[in-house]
Amino acid sequence: MSKKLTRRRSLYLGLGALTALATFAGNAELKRQRILALDDPQRNFTVVGGGSLKERAASIGLIYGAAIRHDHLRQDAKLAAAVKSECRMLVPEWALKWSTPKNPLRPNPDSFDFSAADEMLEFAHTQGMLFRGHTLVWHESLPDWFANNVNYQNAKQILEKHINTVVGRYAGKIHSWDVVNEAIEPRDGRSDGLRKTPWLKLLGTNYIDYAFRLAAAADPQAILVYNDYGLDYDTSEDEAKRNAVLKLLESLKLQGTPIHALGIQAHLDAAETAFNPRKLRQFLRNVASLGLKIMITELDITDKNLSVDTTVCDRIVARAYEEYLNAVLSEPAVIAVLTWGLSDKYTWLSEFQPRSDGVPVRPLLLDSDMNRKLSWNAVASAFDKSLNSDFSLVRKKLFK
Ligand code: XIL
Repeated sequence: MSKKLTRRRSLYLGLGALTALATFAGNAELKRQRILALDDPQRNFTVVGGGSLKERAASIGLIYGAAIRHDHLRQDAKLAAAVKSECRMLVPEWALKWSTPKNPLRPNPDSFDFSAADEMLEFAHTQGMLFRGHTLVWHESLPDWFANNVNYQNAKQILEKHINTVVGRYAGKIHSWDVVNEAIEPRDGRSDGLRKTPWLKLLGTNYIDYAFRLAAAADPQAILVYNDYGLDYDTSEDEAKRNAVLKLLESLKLQGTPIHALGIQAHLDAAETAFNPRKLRQFLRNVASLGLKIMITELDITDKNLSVDTTVCDRIVARAYEEYLNAVLSEPAVIAVLTWGLSDKYTWLSEFQPRSDGVPVRPLLLDSDMNRKLSWNAVASAFDKSLNSDFSLVRKKLFK
């Protein structure tokens, strides 16, 4: 009995293992086929002329720019040259956050270190570039002293001091501020969709309106932006987030909050198949119907989930760039497209979302030697295609 049982048992175990292996192999093959289906070898992304991205964007009344770290800009002359050539706008990736590894804007509750931000503003202005501020109120990049020093009694005063000092210092020199960043998270379970952040806990739901009012008083010229991510795809999660963000924007407009634009971060995934241009365009239209401008503020498209060779990877990423921007640039309320970085050499995704196979990620428009990639062509092509569309004709009237 026991022998027979053992034999049958090992047969079943063997069959089970084979089935699992076949399923795994089948899934891997399915995944590979799905990814290859994203590739279009015939698509060549040719562009006409030698114009830079800022020049092509300007032709359609759009601003193109990039977020760059001050230390990278300082230490890499090739990067600095590429930024000057391609970008109309410069965004400090670190320098105007409360605290980042190489630049604590807020070393302690009573002081500010503007050296990095001043250096980047100087670079922007000497190059005739626009400069934008990122970000005044966020639950990330808070200094170590924040948790132990900010409480119910002093949070309002600390917020006032931060915004009045930082926005006041650059008043008249900033194109736009990301006043509040990533305040929506439906998965936190609140009926208003607000993310449970220290700011919400210490100041209540009015902290968003109050931050915008402080910023408007400190710099009446700056475009004031609410900035968030996860708004792009036809998934239940992104749909929930779009609805919650729209509800927030409607509520802010209703109470007279001085908010001027929605910032859509647009951290995208080239392997994501749930991209529905119609849905995205409808969302953009809904935002614009509130009288708000729209900025694509942190565009990058990761190839981390593409298990194919670099040439195919680059082509799939380029296609994703072109398809996303074709949808975005159909909305005249869009005033800027900003990438989160310019060269793969310095993308934040290398650290935050590396590829499992260890190959360097390639989410941006220039390679590590500052050469233009296919994704650069894709962005240039998307700009050029909008040249004679309603987008640019309406834009040029709307935002002279
Ligand atoms: C990222 C930076 O690129 C990283 O270098 C830093 O360590 C963390 O923050 N959304 C945002 C940006 O609004 O501020 C984040 O920038 C990327 C996600």
